[in-house]
Amino acid sequence: MIFPSLRHCTTLLITAVLWSLSIATQAATTPDSALHPRPGQHAVASAHPLATRAGIDILQQGGNAFDAAIAVAASLGVVEPYSAGIGGGGFWLLYLADRDEYRFIDAREKAPAAAHRDYYINADGKVDRDKAINGPTAAAIPGQAAAFDWLTQHYGRLPLQQTLAAAIQQAQQGFPVYEHYQRLTGWRLDTLRRYPQSARLFLNKDGEIPEVGELIRQPELAVTLQRLAEQGRAGFYQGATAAAMVKQVQQAGGDWTLADLANYSVVERQPIRTSVGHGQFELISAPPPSSGGVALSQMLTMLEQFDWQSLDTVPQTQLLAEVMRRAYLDRARYLGDPDFVPVPVKQLLDPAYNRQWAASIEPGKATPSLSLQGPKNIKEGFHTTHLSVMDAEGNMVSATLSINLPFGSGFTVPGTGILLNNEMDDFSAHPGAPNAYGLVGAEANAIAPGKRPLSSMSPSFLISRDQTAIIGTPGGSRIITMVLLGILEAMQDKPVQDWVSRPRLHHQYLPDRIQYEAAALTAAEQSELKVMGYTLKDAGRQYGNMQAIRWDHRNGEVSAAADPRGYGSAMVVEPAGNTIQK
Ligand code: GLY
Repeated sequence: MIFPSLRHCTTLLITAVLWSLSIATQAATTPDSALHPRPGQHAVASAHPLATRAGIDILQQGGNAFDAAIAVAASLGVVEPYSAGIGGGGFWLLYLADRDEYRFIDAREKAPAAAHRDYYINADGKVDRDKAINGPTAAAIPGQAAAFDWLTQHYGRLPLQQTLAAAIQQAQQGFPVYEHYQRLTGWRLDTLRRYPQSARLFLNKDGEIPEVGELIRQPELAVTLQRLAEQGRAGFYQGATAAAMVKQVQQAGGDWTLADLANYSVVERQPIRTSVGHGQFELISAPPPSSGGVALSQMLTMLEQFDWQSLDTVPQTQLLAEVMRRAYLDRARYLGDPDFVPVPVKQLLDPAYNRQWAASIEPGKATPSLSLQGPKNIKEGFHTTHLSVMDAEGNMVSATLSINLPFGSGFTVPGTGILLNNEMDDFSAHPGAPNAYGLVGAEANAIAPGKRPLSSMSPSFLISRDQTAIIGTPGGSRIITMVLLGILEAMQDKPVQDWVSRPRLHHQYLPDRIQYEAAALTAAEQSELKVMGYTLKDAGRQYGNMQAIRWDHRNGEVSAAADPRGYGSAMVVEPAGNTIQK
């Protein structure tokens, strides 16, 4: 077997030759990529060193990338309890090296049967934000346990007892508090204090943020994970764990039933696959109910109409803001769960449609969002997590996992250690009204029983003749634009450290403004953008936590990077055990 979709890339390459002489020249000077048909090294990048280590250990025990990804995800659910976990869900993009095939596992949470369009509308006709964000009323039926089981049954080599072992041990023995944990605990302190099980687990004995180094132990979660390891999905969606979840959720005002849990299943979907960068690259990314793959494809196709690489910071920022604005408008207008609403993916990916969008961009002048016909209103986030894994045979995983806001709904099911998500807030509670990220949505993302809320999670691969990239990040509505910026770095053949550390900026159609990290724009550049008609907002702090892996086909080098903004770590090791990069 050969590189991911190299057959497809070869076709793309021919197109590229027709596109421009410079591209043809670059292709002609590329060394023979068949020299390195397999990466020959294992790589893991994740948001916590203990999780990265858990993944590497599984690879060295003979597991493949899919086994390792389960171990990393399960560990993140313990040591990053604010980001993702067994009470949440996520998206898993896979590459199966021996079959040269991509898979997308949709393990997004689903609305319980009792939910309906007006589930969060109170007597005054307004959205009840507390019900939509805090406690079990905010929680959708989790998908993470089903994903672990599905991956093990269909793609892994090792049993769950082995892949969940590190997480179980970490839950039993505890992990030491770190600064990022403190920050996010502070962000949801009031909510955690509202739910005694959560306060007991995640705060100190006085109900305050624990000190750095204090151990967070989750013994009930260890038992829950052990049951899942022994019984597979039945150990979570049926039996004692399911009964405890339903009883406690109902007692605390939620509406889950045993049938909601028993009926949960993951869905395998076709990933979004588009040729971008004038045919030099293939983007493989998340399809609806994620908006990530569609929006990324749209933005990259719009950018293709411009010579964006040669632009200075100000015109490039303008261009980025305008393509982001247009893709997020389409997101708000058209995207939702494809099992419930027709999502016009084909039309949105049509190059002619995106060329038309690109033609509406006026150099040197901001397009006011409200001059475009779309829903009216949006914000940002610090939650969720991402992991990237590649094994020596070339199997790959890009997975973005979430419980939505930091610490999800804040409600831990007593006796189980399961911290429930608040993913219901990713629906449009009131089409047109903003959610916690200020994201507005339309009817396509209205609540319905059994439906999956629209997501921004964008686990992606970018493949060219020269390299393979695995990339993704947490960050709420800003996920898609962060992944775009990382991909643009990769397309310029920059090292993987640059992909994850590039200063960030974001536009999401509404609110109509460019958010930026301080390092992204100088004062003079900001002034120039203001003259063009842009409103600017300093993001206040750095955001995102990108985890990426690069396999350079030209020299066979595998490199990996964890976002310097976070606490994560990236490792590359030889199957025999030598560490190449730590
Ligand atoms: N919960 C954030 C997202 O799925 O986009």
